[in-house]
Amino acid sequence: MTPVMGSSLAACVFGTTLNSPILTAAGTSGFGAELSAFGDLRELGAVTVKSLAHFEHHGNPGPRVWPVHGAMLNAVGLSGPGIERWKREYLPALRSSRATVIVSIWGRSNDDYARAASELAAVAEDLTALEINVSCPNTERAGEMFGHDPEMTGRVVRSVVKEIDLALSVKLSPNTDRYLDVAQAALSGGARTLVVANTYLAQALNPRTGRGVLGSAIGGGLSGRSIFPLTLRMVQEVRERFPEVEIIGSGGVNGVQSVLDLLRCGADAVSIGTLNFVDPRLVFAIARELRSYADRSNVGSVAELQARFQHARGCD
Ligand SMILES: Cc1cc2nc3c(=O)[nH]c(=O)nc-3n(C[C@H](O)[C@H](O)[C@H](O)COP(=O)(O)O)c2cc1C
Repeated sequence: MTPVMGSSLAACVFGTTLNSPILTAAGTSGFGAELSAFGDLRELGAVTVKSLAHFEHHGNPGPRVWPVHGAMLNAVGLSGPGIERWKREYLPALRSSRATVIVSIWGRSNDDYARAASELAAVAEDLTALEINVSCPNTERAGEMFGHDPEMTGRVVRSVVKEIDLALSVKLSPNTDRYLDVAQAALSGGARTLVVANTYLAQALNPRTGRGVLGSAIGGGLSGRSIFPLTLRMVQEVRERFPEVEIIGSGGVNGVQSVLDLLRCGADAVSIGTLNFVDPRLVFAIARELRSYADRSNVGSVAELQARFQHARGCD
């Protein structure tokens, strides 16, 4: 655990103790230490680096994000510099910030994921975990996502395990009724943590043109406040099925109450995404407010907090 000013609220994830259960969500706090302009990254449990591939990728044409019904639609399309350039251009600032770092990876094939992991193995000592994003389009079987197919997910995780000795999380897709089977395959393949979950496939039309608002004609992923009840339900279901596994809740967190709700339903940590676009100071404010709440309740860890809720796992 990196020491920070003031007290901390310990969260046990990835076989280590994080300062806080509040993490940034992949793709919403940049590739490096960009958020450090707004707060001390050591106050967060971890920073999750936007999904990287072993190759540079330009992503989708604009517009890539759009506000919609208390939420946000995005189709950024996984643009990124590629891992080797990321190591040169972004990792040094993250090192200096002394943030706890999770790197998210994506690919179009098993080999892509394996190569991403092997390129990161060289800097594994700078990382706390690798998040495998299986919720992105897969071109091996056009139009499908790895994360909609348990076998494909299991294969991806096994390819990554061979290349890197680091705690692995898998980010589930909420867009399939098979996500519990996908989760099982991820865990059997060697993942220790489940991120629940990615964005919901969605569309919004421009009333003037009748066309989709985003550059990507097919639409994008819905995130933000409106999806919170969906996240809560999914976390609850995953927790019930897998009582012992580590869960990071992701989707619609908008303040301390939503964090507490997720912890109550069995999340060990939560990640904050869309809120970083609303105001990049909020993630720090929520981490601080949560610590004050824990101090007032005289608890020092998420586990104690959950015990206070009188059920270390699951919902009332
Ligand atoms: C603009 C944008 C970019 C995103 N990029 C990624 C990404 O690269 N990899 C990933 O796994 N998730 C990505 N996500 C999903 C978030 O990490 C998060 O899981 C999702 O937005 C739900 O959380 P939220 O409601 O707090 O935003 C992105 C979300 C947004 C809004």
